[in-house]
Amino acid sequence: MPPSVIVVGASGSVGRPLMAEFLAQISKFGRVAVLSDPAKVARFAKIQGQGIEIVAGSFLEGKSYEGFNVVISLAGNATLKLQPGMIEAAIAGGARHFIPSEFGADIARDGMWKNRYFRDKVVTRDHLRARARDTPGFRYTLILSGVVTEYTVSEFNGVDVEKHVARTYGYPEARLHVTAMNDVAKFIVGSILLPWEDPTQSMRELRVSGDCLTWEALVGLLENVQGVKYDVKYLDPALAAEKQETARAAGDSEGELMWAATALMANGLAFLPGPSDNHLFAFKAESAKETLDRMFGQK
Ligand SMILES: NC(=O)c1ccc[n+]([C@@H]2O[C@H](COP(=O)([O-])OP(=O)(O)OC[C@H]3O[C@@H](n4cnc5c(N)ncnc54)[C@H](OP(=O)(O)O)[C@@H]3O)[C@@H](O)[C@H]2O)c1
Repeated sequence: MPPSVIVVGASGSVGRPLMAEFLAQISKFGRVAVLSDPAKVARFAKIQGQGIEIVAGSFLEGKSYEGFNVVISLAGNATLKLQPGMIEAAIAGGARHFIPSEFGADIARDGMWKNRYFRDKVVTRDHLRARARDTPGFRYTLILSGVVTEYTVSEFNGVDVEKHVARTYGYPEARLHVTAMNDVAKFIVGSILLPWEDPTQSMRELRVSGDCLTWEALVGLLENVQGVKYDVKYLDPALAAEKQETARAAGDSEGELMWAATALMANGLAFLPGPSDNHLFAFKAESAKETLDRMFGQK
């Protein structure tokens, strides 16, 4: 039977391209739905007209998930900590395949799980592992896709694409995996259609990306595409850690998260070790150069 999928967080930055990808492949699915806050259903009117169902309800209630076997969580920073409750509700509603809000780094490696930015994702993974042990038929897929390419060269990472200045916490030789946002969406949709290769395992990890390069090479590509030289300086990541701690002590959890994330990009933390799973998918993901060309190249 074709899978029936419900998406939590469909209006967010990953959610919007994901729903576009679902629409492009809708014939391969039994049902595709968005789970929406009842007060906000109107914003999904357009995709509803194109064949996506809208379920109005809470992601913490089992009945929201009834009739769906796959749940995709695109919880953003503010709601990540609620994912264990979402998993409970999804299981109670009958769902048996959960794709948690990951789509980034390999948070299990090298003590990365201690990074504040990943705290709620780590708790979610622990919860999934525990529930997979005691819930027959329950399984989950972790999609690791590195950094969204479009987000790398941004002010958040100290890159000013208009003034051509880069002040980044980290090191030129740090490697990172990057994936264009539309390709993240394609990998998520494609993952649901992949056969579950090892039925004895309840967890599956997919390591996918569009490119792997150093931070210096990425800035070099940007220079090349824009035809300008950047004023580049590297800042000590310890300074970002200090700012993170100051934010934490002041009870500013948004600032704490932001500073924790600032030091990820050019420190090797967005590098995905191990073999790639790109070959399992029937499309070729965009390289970093192709994405930067699309964003900044001469039209
Ligand atoms: N690796 C990378 O570079 C990268 C980049 C981007 C994202 N990501 C990852 O992708 C995942 C999704 O991030 P995002 O940027 O798409 O997040 P986002 O833009 O903040 O979107 C979060 C979504 O959750 C929804 N939501 C919040 N509370 C809800 C509720 N009570 N009921 C239903 N929906 C609710 C939001 O809807 P409202 O608008 O109603 O609040 C929104 O649609 C995260 O794990 C993030 O870390 C990774």
